[in-house]
Amino acid sequence: MKNLNYVIREAAEQDLEQIMELENACFGNDAWDADTMHFEVVAHHTHYLAAFEGPDATPKLIGFAGLSKIPGNDQADIQTIAVSEAARGKGVGKALMLELLKEARRLHTAEMFLEVRADNPAAQNLYLNLGFEHIDTRKRYYQPDDVDAWVMRLQFAKTSIGREPVVLGIETSCDETGVGIVRGNTLLANIISSSMDEHARFGGVVPEIAARAHLEALKPTLDQALAKANLSLKDIDAIAVTNGPGLGGALMVGIGAAKALSVAIEKPIYAVNHLVGHVGVDILERGELQTPTVALLVSGGHTSLLLVRDLLNDVELLGETIDDAAGEAFDKVARVLRLKYPGGPEIDKAAVGGDPKAIRFPRGLSLPKDMEKHRYDFSFSGLKTAVARWVEVAETKDEPINVADIAASFREAVADVLVTKAVNACLDHKVPRLLLGGGVVANARLRELAQERCDAHGIELRIPALSLCTDNGAMIAALGAQLMMAGRAPSSLHFGSDSTLPVTTVQSH
Ligand code: KG4
Ligand code: ZN
Repeated sequence: MKNLNYVIREAAEQDLEQIMELENACFGNDAWDADTMHFEVVAHHTHYLAAFEGPDATPKLIGFAGLSKIPGNDQADIQTIAVSEAARGKGVGKALMLELLKEARRLHTAEMFLEVRADNPAAQNLYLNLGFEHIDTRKRYYQPDDVDAWVMRLQFAKTSIGREPVVLGIETSCDETGVGIVRGNTLLANIISSSMDEHARFGGVVPEIAARAHLEALKPTLDQALAKANLSLKDIDAIAVTNGPGLGGALMVGIGAAKALSVAIEKPIYAVNHLVGHVGVDILERGELQTPTVALLVSGGHTSLLLVRDLLNDVELLGETIDDAAGEAFDKVARVLRLKYPGGPEIDKAAVGGDPKAIRFPRGLSLPKDMEKHRYDFSFSGLKTAVARWVEVAETKDEPINVADIAASFREAVADVLVTKAVNACLDHKVPRLLLGGGVVANARLRELAQERCDAHGIELRIPALSLCTDNGAMIAALGAQLMMAGRAPSSLHFGSDSTLPVTTVQSH
């Protein structure tokens, strides 16, 4: 899939020859004639896209798709979609559909329809995953094959409740109890209660303590969020809740509360992915998420590099940590240096005035051989051990330990690896954007280095406000609202927590 390099652009008259070739190859007897195709491709009420593969000089058409929407009517139709046989199963059809959905949204479409052969489950599944539902069957629609057509519909829900939905988000995947409220793309409240202090004497998050703290904090946090938004529970249109990844017991507290609320106020519930929430939060600051984007998520619980082509439909995990999370490395090294928990801010403080080049600590998974197999993966346990060894050796030799130099050199090693791999991901995938998320984003050197390297490569760097970078309920509410506005059916009440929920599962049912 990754080897297929293609571009999608608007179809034009000069593409007609290749379009007709592909039309005939795909639809045989049922193919449109060249005049009909010409009319539809250039018509004002249609929007046709073409996908091309190969060198710029001689691009080869591998797919096309078209949408029609009569002005003044809020319904749209997918008129056609075709992908060459050689390019099937490689995401081209989905990419074309996603672009058409964007266009439909831009045109303020309320409902979108399409027909698909009853004997084509691969296409049906693609449309079901995009939020379409099967609403009717036209008997023996495709002739001469005598095959039925499924009529499918996607409702853009913004209009199904007649306005932007008010969504309450609950986040309890780690040690922050977060309750956020949004209206559509607008942030109304973001209240966080953290159990961090209770974990301090253990030097890291203790799952049992976190779960109990959520139980105690949930109700007051919820009350505060409603008060901040100046709303009551009856104003809420839907509940969104993190169901993974995260600590199992901690997640279950939020899920239980969210299900109870959903039943009590008789409103739909959306179970959403924590990591995708970190990405979607940008919508609350900019009104939209610009895609494609690479996202680097770094916290005490995760270190993930994502390629996001579409927030709700196409999030790919490029790499992640194979041992400690970046924040965890800060916390552990702080212990070695006898600094307080959480270690990140303490190391940031200690590093001021230190020489980042004093000690060359190892950059995990960055040797040429690692860059083949683990190009986008991270490893911090070797770095932590290197710092511990360095301190140990100095102590046995009775040499003075320069905490500022060690902190600055350690911080440099972490920031260097994170930024190098994130920028590589942007360059490799020709993505001109990088979004940061997670608590480690507070790190002064990480922010500085990311800005420097992004500027050098013409990459736009996005760092949301810190209150939206650390774990919070607003990002979960925002993702729930996006799902609702895209017409997604709510989750059932049957979903559970999933500690290792993959990023590809944006919503659990
Ligand atoms: O996103 P977050 O609040 O949630 C959890 O993972 O729970 O991230 C907390 C992590 C901790 O490991 C903390 O040490 C780290 O983020 N952190 C930092 C800084 N501030 C917080 N790491 C490096 N530099 C900082 N300034
Ligand atoms: Zn997080």
